[in-house]
Amino acid sequence: RKMTREKDVARGQWRSKFGFLMAAIGSAVGLGNLWGFPYKMGKSGGGAFLVVYLAVVLLVGVVIMLGELALGRKTGKGAVEAYQAVSKKFAWVGYLGVASPFIILAFYNVLGGMVLKYMVAFVESMFSGGANFANIKSGAYFGEFICNGSDMLLYLAIFELLNIVIVMSGVESGIERFNKYAIPALAIILAGLAVYVYTFPGAEKGLDFMFKPNFAVFSDPEIGFFKVLKTAAGQMFFSLSLGMGVMITYGSYLSKEQDLSREMYIIPLADTIIAVLAGMVVMPACFAFGLAPAGGPSLLFVSLHEVFVTGMGGFSGSFVGFLFYFLVFLAAISSSMSLLEVCVACLLDRQIRKGKAPTRAATTIVLALVLFVVSLPVALDGLGSNVAGGAAMNSPGVMMGLKKIPVAFDCWLDFYDMLSEGVMMPLGSLLMSVMFGWVLGTKVIADEVALTPGKKLRFEWLVDLCFKFIVPVILVVVLLAQLQDFGL
Ligand code: PHE
Ligand code: NA
Repeated sequence: RKMTREKDVARGQWRSKFGFLMAAIGSAVGLGNLWGFPYKMGKSGGGAFLVVYLAVVLLVGVVIMLGELALGRKTGKGAVEAYQAVSKKFAWVGYLGVASPFIILAFYNVLGGMVLKYMVAFVESMFSGGANFANIKSGAYFGEFICNGSDMLLYLAIFELLNIVIVMSGVESGIERFNKYAIPALAIILAGLAVYVYTFPGAEKGLDFMFKPNFAVFSDPEIGFFKVLKTAAGQMFFSLSLGMGVMITYGSYLSKEQDLSREMYIIPLADTIIAVLAGMVVMPACFAFGLAPAGGPSLLFVSLHEVFVTGMGGFSGSFVGFLFYFLVFLAAISSSMSLLEVCVACLLDRQIRKGKAPTRAATTIVLALVLFVVSLPVALDGLGSNVAGGAAMNSPGVMMGLKKIPVAFDCWLDFYDMLSEGVMMPLGSLLMSVMFGWVLGTKVIADEVALTPGKKLRFEWLVDLCFKFIVPVILVVVLLAQLQDFGL
């Protein structure tokens, strides 16, 4: 008894059930919900995409969520050592899990920094009566910013610094404490904005764009069922923070009292509700002000900036804009800290195993510095292109299709994104599924769930079927479809 207590103190543990849930939902809810989901849904068949997405969440997401949480709680270890603890054959899978955060963080923190900059700009604008945006077209503002290397680096550094401060404060006094307030605040702001958006005429068209089922996409030669499935699956992994050790790590700080048979549904449910709600803010806002919804960074930065500055305008536009970017900031940093924590936890586990006292603060700082370097190509991608693209960028119409402007930014981000959510996350989850389905057996998970007094895994046979057949089949199809993107 005393032993386990001591171990928990060294590694950290969630203080409350609610605190864990907020941290896990905080990791899940992020740019993937606020930015990726709405436009992917709009572009890939609206309601038809939603149906496929929900099916993937239920058939793959929920069981992988369960598997990761159970693996973490059972072993009390971060991603790398958790796999090593349960299986010789799969011992290396954990390393895949720590490689992915590096790739995601490389662009995620850059976007986080950009969000921070927009938040600050809207605060300034609130106090200057919109003066700092006057006569600046949204596209030009964005273009100037991403081509301004020192600004990009400055805000990236601030965003990372905030991450460092929270993560080095520990699981309970850093991550849990932050999320306990941030996630409820985020939900309230989002719900408020969703209501506010409908006071603008034309907002309904956004809902049509999002929800109107267009099953024709399944037979569309350009899109087709497999592309919809691939997009939905990649989005699901990214959105639920699966396939890369986040939920293993967060699970390792759980007490046996937390009911995994319930949290496996609650976290995906909350994430999906927030994604849909985000779409119900973003899309109607674009349509109400006559902007075509575009994908990529331009949706979050150019289109919405345009809505707040030109569409709403004045103090209220600045205030709503600030609220929106504040919300995005909370979502982004709560996800970003979970990625950092995955890497930190692995190094701390190693220190503990070697009998050393874990040095959380130093480890966090060193890792964050490494990550800063990894982010540089993404952060500096736009550098210098403003000169050539200056004229074009003054027209938001051109900016909206980011591909048309000479900004290479798109490439690095797309590449990192494709590598992580397209390949590494499905691959990690495929391996976990095979491990549970065919090597360890689903019973290991059911036993772990049953450690919570009075709880047991419902539909164990169905979960087993998912691990053995359904998840592997879907993920093999997804990975094969993905290979085409790499021209293989
Ligand atoms: N789930 C986060 C989002 O939707 C991103 C993320 C992916 C966070 C993987 C952690 C791990 O934005
Ligand atoms: Na998400």
